[in-house]
This record gives sequence, structure tokens and C-alpha cells, in this order.
Amino acid sequence: MCGIIGINSNKSVSATIINSLKKLEYRGYDSAGIATLSNGFINEIKSEGRVENLEKNSSVQNMEGNIGIGHVRWATHGLPNSINAHPHSSQNVSVVHNGIIENSTLLKKFLVSKGHKFKSQTDTEVIVHLITENLKTENIVNSIKKTLKALHGSFALGIIFKDQPDLIVGARRGSPLAVGYGPNENYLGSDSYALKSMTNKITYLNDGEFCVIKKDHVEFFNEDGTKINKKVLELSSEDEKYDKGDYKHFMAKEIEEQPITLKNGIKEYIDSANNDINIYNIPWKKNEISSITLIGCGTAYHSCLMAKYWFEELTSLDVNVDIASEFRYRKNRFKKDTLYVFVSQSGETADTYAALDLCKKNGMKTCSVVNVIESSIARDSEFVLPIHCGIEIGVASTKAFLGQILILYILALKLALVRGDLEKKDLSKKLKDLKELPKLVEKTLQTDNKIQNVSSTFNEAKGSMFLGRGFSYPIALEGALKLKELSYVHAEGYPAGEMKHGPLALIEEGMPVVVLAPRDTYYKKTISNMQEVIARGAKVLLITNKSSDEIISENIWETIEVESTNEDLLPFLLTIPLQKLAYYSALKKGLDIDKPRNLAKSVTVE
Ligand code: AGP
Repeated sequence: MCGIIGINSNKSVSATIINSLKKLEYRGYDSAGIATLSNGFINEIKSEGRVENLEKNSSVQNMEGNIGIGHVRWATHGLPNSINAHPHSSQNVSVVHNGIIENSTLLKKFLVSKGHKFKSQTDTEVIVHLITENLKTENIVNSIKKTLKALHGSFALGIIFKDQPDLIVGARRGSPLAVGYGPNENYLGSDSYALKSMTNKITYLNDGEFCVIKKDHVEFFNEDGTKINKKVLELSSEDEKYDKGDYKHFMAKEIEEQPITLKNGIKEYIDSANNDINIYNIPWKKNEISSITLIGCGTAYHSCLMAKYWFEELTSLDVNVDIASEFRYRKNRFKKDTLYVFVSQSGETADTYAALDLCKKNGMKTCSVVNVIESSIARDSEFVLPIHCGIEIGVASTKAFLGQILILYILALKLALVRGDLEKKDLSKKLKDLKELPKLVEKTLQTDNKIQNVSSTFNEAKGSMFLGRGFSYPIALEGALKLKELSYVHAEGYPAGEMKHGPLALIEEGMPVVVLAPRDTYYKKTISNMQEVIARGAKVLLITNKSSDEIISENIWETIEVESTNEDLLPFLLTIPLQKLAYYSALKKGLDIDKPRNLAKSVTVE
């Protein structure tokens, strides 16, 4: 949710910190700040809004110091202004924080009683004063240990000390944090993406661990202050040069990349030589699993819902889905023969990670479908299925959604085959259709003009509906979410068959309604639902697939036809026009497409 960077070097660090913060802005961009140590003082500069506002500040340009920390914020406690921006500093300590301190009110009362003066409304500031208080009686390691023990909630911390001009402390509980190793300098960062431009040698902290970063070495400790050794990973540099190229936005590029990312996934998982699926190392026997529960948030939850339909169609497994933030507090009946599947692009979403942790604590089988393979959710799952989409920067997920549902579809095929629910000959037909999918997506990406024409109608309306049945229903939800999060207009995804049970009352003259009605099992029923809304004045944007059959309805405002394929795969194609609709609506409103207001790419707090 927020981004952290720290650098301990033998040269000035402010410019590198600012550049790293720009890479971290996809994690949050309400405000930004930097603190360095020079001439025995902590220098702190903060600004509201984007990193470029901080960069323009002349004092930043002349900021001295070979040790520093920086932060981009997504506000949880306190307004997104420069006072509440991080770092937070006392005379002796400066802290950047990602997470939520749940007992900050109590701690603040105690610290105020000890004479500490607070400047901000944030929970983070209690950490500054608690360390300062503990430093009165403890050395650095013990004061950190004592402070962390007193904190309830989640944190990734970067800390510098006036009286310790040669070190940075990092600490992690529930929010990701990594150490990077460079020539005569070492780094601290929220994730590998922030560090990749400086190094590909990374160590990830686990919950409860903290570290002391010097220029030439790093020491790691567990929560009781015992020194530990940690692995140094060498990350692939393929993503390093990821930029917009000649696209206006990362999202535009990521929409157009989908044929390639689908090809990557298919190449990775389809074993053409053996007409099989290249998931051979499933750690459980087929009779050890009789049900599946899929868990995720936001778009990843929609992937889970989409997968439910495929698992039910292809296998004899019982299938449940749940929103991670609901699942983690539900009175769950954990059963040994249930496989829990966690879907997450970032692999750091706090609610999804907490749900995984809960399942592991109950001895459950866990599998994750992630894009960031070095993420916490991937590292802590028993079995990982990467989606191989490459970095996704746009906060509104596009290629990762298609990547998630591709891998979930492939997993459903594999489990169906292994369990005898699917014949080999039927699998080969499905794999043949699957291999055609990237080309069909390529063609469907050409549906631009019509979408551009209709997009302003969605901006001007006070709300819109996205309707679908069966396989199209999860896609209706996803299309509505895309429009909401990019254009800031109300949109609701709904089962087409449910409209008559209340929401039909919403329909009024000129209200835009997207109806997903591919020529599938549900086609005729959905067309009659479409006629119900047209009869009440709705402007229907019908999204269907190419067919020789005439569309049996009149007064349709606009029709978009995607390519045709087998029913299972139509959801991939129906998604494309909806992604573009949201994109062009936001473009017409001149909104920030890659960083929509109030959002962040990875929601690492509850
Ligand atoms: C996607 O368009 C959204 N920005 C958001 O719902 C996202 O899917 C959700 O926060 C889950 O993120 P994750 O896949 O990284 O876990």
C-alpha cells in the first residue's frame, strides 16, 4: 500500500532515492518524503501528491547525506498531506512505514505521558517516539526488538538514527520488505521492483525478522534478537527495462500485451508433445482432494468466480469461492480434503495473505496463482502456479486477470484429467482451441472504434449496469469494476437473470447497460433479459461473438462482436471490450489511468 526505500552508500543518496520512489508510486501516491543523515543531523523533506512535487523542492536537489530513507504513501491514518507524509522523525530517529499499527492510540497516550510531542495524525509516529524512548536504556538491536514487541498490527519499516551514521534498520511483520546488495552500498525496499534498477541480488525478510544494513554488509535477526543467516536470491533482469514504450499509459500497453502473455502461459503449461498439461508435480494424490475453495480480492476474486464455473463444468469437485477479507473472519469448517487456491497478482495483498496464513495454521493444502513469484503469498504456499505476465504497473489489472483465469482454466483441465472427469481425446480438442486463443484475442483487440464512440455515454450517465449469465457473469463483474476504478462512475455487475428481482427498478430512459450475450448455453435467456431492460428505456451495448445467426432483438444501441471459439474460452474474449471501455471512458475524462485516485497496486493493509 505504501512504498519504502532506504540506501546506505559511500556517495550521496538523495537523487537515487527520488528515482526509486518514482518506481514505487504504483504502491501509493498521496504524498512522498525523504530523510537523510548528514553532519550529525536528520534532514527531512516531505510533500503532498506525487514524487515530482518532492523532486521540484530545491532543498531536495541539494540534500546531502550518504544514508537515507524515502516513502510514497497511500493514506490509512490521517489526511494525505505533507504533515502526515512519511518519514516521521524525532531529533534522533526517522521512520518510514508500510502497514497499520493497531494499538497506536494506547501507545501514543503512554508516550505523551513520557513527554513526547506528536506532530501528525498518523499511527506511524508512535514508532518514532517508542524507539526514541527505548534508546534511552537499550542499544540499537534491543531497542528495535523491544519496540517491535510492543507494536500490534502490520509493518514494514525503514529506520535511520542520528547517533548511528553508518546503518539503516529494516523490520517486517505482515507487509513485504526486501534487502538489496550493491557495490559499496546496500538497499532496503518494499519489493524487488523498487530495487531492480540498482541490483538483482535480493533477500526477503520474513515476518518477525529485522535487519541492520551497513554499506558493506547486512545483519539479520529474528524477533528475539538472535542473529540469523538469510539466502541471497539473484532475480531475472527481464523486467528491468519495462516501460511504456510508445503507449500513452501502462494500462494501454498491458491490454495490448495480452496475446503475448497468454502465449507465455500456454507455452509454459501446455505439454504439446504429450498432449498433456505441464503441471506434473502436484503435491497431493487425486483422492486427497474432493473440494476446492478459491480465494482472492477485487479482480483476483473475479478470477476465482470465473474458475468456479470451469471447475464445476470440467470436474466432479465441490467448488467454493470467497472474498479474502470475508473468508479470514468467517467461522470456516476446515476439511483435510479441501484444496485452498489463493489468487493474487502482487502476491502481497494483506487479506489474501492472511487467508493463506489461516489455512496453513489449520493444516490445509494451499496453492497460489500469482504473477510475482518472489512474493509472500508465493513463498508461503505449498504449491505455486505463476501466471508469467511480466510486471503489471497499471493499478487496474488487465493482463494479469487474463493470466489468472488462463492458469485457473488449465488447472481445472489438469485436475479433470487426473481425476478421470475428462477424457484425453476431449482434452486434446480443448488444448487445440486454447492454442488458438492468443490469435483470437489479437483480433478482438481491434474492436476500438465502436468502444471509443460509446465510452462518453458511460461517463455522462449517473450509473450503468453490466449483465451476464453463467460464464459471462464474472466478466460482467470485472467489467463494472474496471469502469468504476478508472472513470470514477458508478457501475454494477449483476446476474442477468436477477434484474427482475429488484434492480430493474433502476433502469430509466437512456441508462447505459452492457449485456454480455455470447452464443452460448445461456444466450436466449440473456437476450430476453436484454429485451426487458430495452423495454424500459435502457441503451444496451450488446457484446456477443461473431455468428451467422441473426441477433433476435431490436432497438439495441450498439453491438460489438468478439471472435468465436468454444464456450469455455469466450470469457477471455468478452473481457477485452470491457477493458477498453473503461480505458477510453477514463481517457475522455482526462483521469490518471495508471494511478486512479484512492487506489494502489498492492493493498498490503487490511
Ligand atoms: C484490479 O483492477 C484492482 N485494482 C484490485 O481489485 C486488485 O485486483 C486487488 O487489489 C487484488 O490484488 P492482487 O491480485 O495483487 O491480490
